[in-house]
Amino acid sequence: MQRPPATEPDGDGEGVIATRALTKRYRGGQLAVDGLDLTVPAGSVFGFLGPNGSGKTTTIRMLMGLIEPTSGTARVLGRPMPRAARAVLPQVGALIEGPALYGFLSGRDNLLRYDAADPTADPRTRRARVAAALDRVGLTAAAGKKAKAYSLGMKQRLGLAAALLQPRRLLVLDEPTNGLDPQGMREIRTLVRELADDGTTVFLSSHLLDEIEQVCTHAAVMARGRLITQGTVADLAAGLRGRLVVVTPDPGDAARVLKESGVGDVVVGEERVSGEAPEGELADLNAALVSAGVRVRGFGIERASLEDAFMALTGEGFDVAG
Ligand SMILES: Nc1ncnc2c1ncn2[C@@H]1O[C@H](COP(=O)(O)OP(=O)(O)OP(=O)(O)O)[C@@H](O)[C@H]1O
Ligand SMILES: [Mg+2]
Repeated sequence: MQRPPATEPDGDGEGVIATRALTKRYRGGQLAVDGLDLTVPAGSVFGFLGPNGSGKTTTIRMLMGLIEPTSGTARVLGRPMPRAARAVLPQVGALIEGPALYGFLSGRDNLLRYDAADPTADPRTRRARVAAALDRVGLTAAAGKKAKAYSLGMKQRLGLAAALLQPRRLLVLDEPTNGLDPQGMREIRTLVRELADDGTTVFLSSHLLDEIEQVCTHAAVMARGRLITQGTVADLAAGLRGRLVVVTPDPGDAARVLKESGVGDVVVGEERVSGEAPEGELADLNAALVSAGVRVRGFGIERASLEDAFMALTGEGFDVAG
């Protein structure tokens, strides 16, 4: 792997987040994160994907300086964590599992109090910034309600609002759509895209593959504390190129023609034959089938999903507990 220069002042060259061999073993011997090398490019919407217990929250806690790594290093915005936490954290908005709220205060008062605890926040603009953040997450109507009466989704939105009180260079969101209904999930996705358009790098964890595919430019896949792969979402899905699928009442003949045409890994189903997508012209292949007398009802490339990639990489389904 190529190493960028170590003296990058703002972290953009080495990645907004860069970890090397980052490892966390909890007391009791549990190895939660194992030798993680993560690079999050500036301006990306980076999906941190993995099933329950794969080490996502543990990694995020180390990135935010909330817990010490057992070994390895983490740099955020070019500075070492947790050592540079005081300089780094004001530029980072974070939403971490179960945001801490005062149940007896309203959503609005929670944010006012949270902002007041931030020495870098300007008290003169506090009310306006709180109102804007509430509006951005769709909580304006519920702003006066006590937080203990909030649903899980509303608490999640309030946590997100807290991360948006100031302009940030980086947002770190641990399962931001947790507890939200489909409409709420769509709203958060839209919000994430808007923030990214404003130039904020967004790092978000999820165990939902399609969510990552819909909103992220880049992704890393974790399983049992280890990084399995990282890269652009397009590359990850294309890593396994899509499969060629022919729907036909003549699967035997179709399979023979495909093999003769050089298609690899041909699998014959009842009315369906699939194989590795060919490099060459698809139309020629279709023509070869037809001229061999194969009745073709359907012909095309089935796009590989991140889920396919995950299955291929781990040999297991996605919903496996770690
Ligand atoms: N405080 C802790 N003490 C001991 N073990 C822990 C602690 N926190 C987490 N673990 C263990 O570390 C592993 C990783 O947990 P972590 O919470 O980082 O996973 P996750 O990917 O965030 O999971 P989820 O999708 O459920 O949020 C799990 O096996 C978990 O049981
Ligand atoms: Mg978690």
